[in-house]
Amino acid sequence: MLKNQKIVIIGGSSGIGLETAKQLIGEGAEVIIASRSAHKVQQAAALLGPQASSLTLDTTVEDQVKAFFERVGRFDHLVVSAAETSGGPFLHTATDQARLLFDNKFWGQYYAAKYGAPYLSPEGSITLFSGVVAYKSMVGSSVLGAVNAAVSSLGQTLALELAPIRVNIVSPGIIDTPSRSKMPEEARRDLYAAVGGKLPVKRVGLAGDVARSVLYLIQNSFVTGTVLHVEGGHLLT
Ligand SMILES: NC(=O)c1ccc[n+]([C@@H]2O[C@H](COP(=O)([O-])OP(=O)(O)OC[C@H]3O[C@@H](n4cnc5c(N)ncnc54)[C@H](OP(=O)(O)O)[C@@H]3O)[C@@H](O)[C@H]2O)c1
Repeated sequence: MLKNQKIVIIGGSSGIGLETAKQLIGEGAEVIIASRSAHKVQQAAALLGPQASSLTLDTTVEDQVKAFFERVGRFDHLVVSAAETSGGPFLHTATDQARLLFDNKFWGQYYAAKYGAPYLSPEGSITLFSGVVAYKSMVGSSVLGAVNAAVSSLGQTLALELAPIRVNIVSPGIIDTPSRSKMPEEARRDLYAAVGGKLPVKRVGLAGDVARSVLYLIQNSFVTGTVLHVEGGHLLT
């Protein structure tokens, strides 16, 4: 049980973060969810009920992240699932787009860890998000793969530097979340069927599959510096 535990989920208004908030609330925790869109994050908090509250935050803006944690104060666990990602062929990807990916997914998590850690309980934890393309090279994912690898490396070193606070990294495979809502529905279904069909588990992941792994990392006080792959066997293919 996580009763009386205050848990911050940056990126908690959608997908894996939102599902993690639901499961944590089920364990009795109080959650604070944050993301850029006030409308989205307030709507998600309303859906989650009285154990949830919301704040707006853009993790790419360092001063905002600092002020966010000053406002939150002491808390028990930090989850950073916030990211907006993109892909494309290396030679045809604008350098600015590549930098944006680092700004959003790498520097966002860096700022969150840096300004969140001083407010965390020594018995607490940080869970960062990497992703399968860091470990399984895929055409079109050169920059995202590099971002994810950088997050994993950062998190593992922080597990030493921020100890006794535990720091772990979740590396999801292909998960059906609103992150691909811009894709036409048919193309999305085809992608999930094609990728899922090649996996040992014969399906793509659900947000709840990954959320369960986040709960494990929060609750198991003997786990730190781990990159937990939640990918249906993708790395074996
Ligand atoms: N889904 C997959 O297949 C997959 C695969 C590998 C790794 N992952 C990783 O898993 C994590 C969660 O992904 P997901 O699929 O759950 O994504 P999602 O459904 O798109 O949710 C992402 C969340 O991050 C927030 N966000 C984005 N940029 C932000 C920023 N700069 N500051 C604050 N909040 C921000 C979004 O809300 P706002 O728009 O309101 O900001 C949203 O709540 C990400 O790190 C993603 O890269 C996902």
